[in-house]
Amino acid sequence: MKNILITGGAGFIGSHVVRLFVNKYPNYRIVNLDKLTYAGNLANLKDVEQAENYHFEKCDICDFDRIVEIFKKYDIDGVIHLAAESHVDRSIKDPFTFARTNVMGTLSLLQAAKLCWNGEWEGKRFYHISTDEVYGALEFDGTLFTETTKYDPHSPYSASKASSDHFVRSFHDTYGMPTIVTNCSNNYGPYQFPEKLMPLFINNIRNGKPLPVYGKGENVRDWLYVEDHARAIDLIFHKGEIAETYNIGGFNEWRNIDLIRVLIKTVDRLLGNPEGASERLITYVTDRAGHDLRYAIDSRKLKNELGWEPSLQFEEGIEKTVKWYIDNQSWIDNITSGEYEKYYEEMYANR
Ligand code: NAD
Ligand code: DAU
Repeated sequence: MKNILITGGAGFIGSHVVRLFVNKYPNYRIVNLDKLTYAGNLANLKDVEQAENYHFEKCDICDFDRIVEIFKKYDIDGVIHLAAESHVDRSIKDPFTFARTNVMGTLSLLQAAKLCWNGEWEGKRFYHISTDEVYGALEFDGTLFTETTKYDPHSPYSASKASSDHFVRSFHDTYGMPTIVTNCSNNYGPYQFPEKLMPLFINNIRNGKPLPVYGKGENVRDWLYVEDHARAIDLIFHKGEIAETYNIGGFNEWRNIDLIRVLIKTVDRLLGNPEGASERLITYVTDRAGHDLRYAIDSRKLKNELGWEPSLQFEEGIEKTVKWYIDNQSWIDNITSGEYEKYYEEMYANR
């Protein structure tokens, strides 16, 4: 496969996948297709935008006709589909946008691939990036999500992702399209939009702003450094079995409040503040509606079958991440100085 369409490449995870592929595979043509919503930012790709094997197409994944044009223009033979509305809180306020992009957008891509590949599946691959949230929520009982855990989504975001997963699998079962789906846990690292827990809190600590902890801060998430996710995507895209599902996670569960304390400690230390100075910023606010209690991924299948393991220890990943946001303040300031600031203030006005 030489002509790869990566959707959502201007977003958080997508930009790491684009960077990895552009640098690692000079013989591939990498086409980044992105609508550039509020979450898409071409500044995430400054270091690769001049590369000869990199191309950018501003396009909505719901625009079927343009997708077909792009497939033909670049003779696309592989798709890595990351474009999505990705923030749970936004899905609670505006579920329509999530159904449109995540469900109809995925279906448009699948239909375009079906039309352009025209039953010639040899050497083709449609790889869909999904989330552990489709599996629902776990209790505090040590159980893990496996690839056979029943889907049980609770938020409009996870319901839309679950629906898109089903469509992708249906295109394999019905038409024989070579598809793969992976379900990953919470990612963290550079270039994450500062509405998500880690970049939001790092930035608020830096600016002495309140840290809005939902509920009691007892919910658990399983954190993976974004470059490890990108490495897994590369491996699975090339070596994964068609029609299979792989879970991706770091066996790295943290209660939100414990993680927040680690962030406070790290940011304070790197900024030269007295230890624990920012603890006073912790502010308990009304819980997220339908807030899933615990996510935890069992990624043993990926390890056993393809040999993937996370490369970074969590302490190392947190240190790198906090340092990146502190060293790249202009990246975050460019985002928070615009429309987003208004959205953020409105969002928290009622909490
Ligand atoms: P993100 O919100 O940072 O980026 C999404 C990208 O998709 C943006 O560049 C945006 O412009 C683009 N996009 C949105 N709607 C589009 C449309 N209609 N047409 C074309 N482009 C559009 O998201 P992320 O956190 O990087 O997540 C990427 C993917 O990985 C998503 O599918 C998400 O569900 C999945 N995922 C994310 C995580 C995580 O922790 N962030 C974990 C597991 C899976
Ligand atoms: O599990 C994978 C998912 O991880 C991805 O599919 C999603 O795209 C991604 O956004 C993420 O979802 P979460 O809802 O887990 O991430 P978020 O960063 O929004 O929140 C992490 C935890 O922190 C969650 O329990 C809610 C809590 N939280 C979040 C924010 C933004 C707070 O307590 N306060 C906050 O201000």
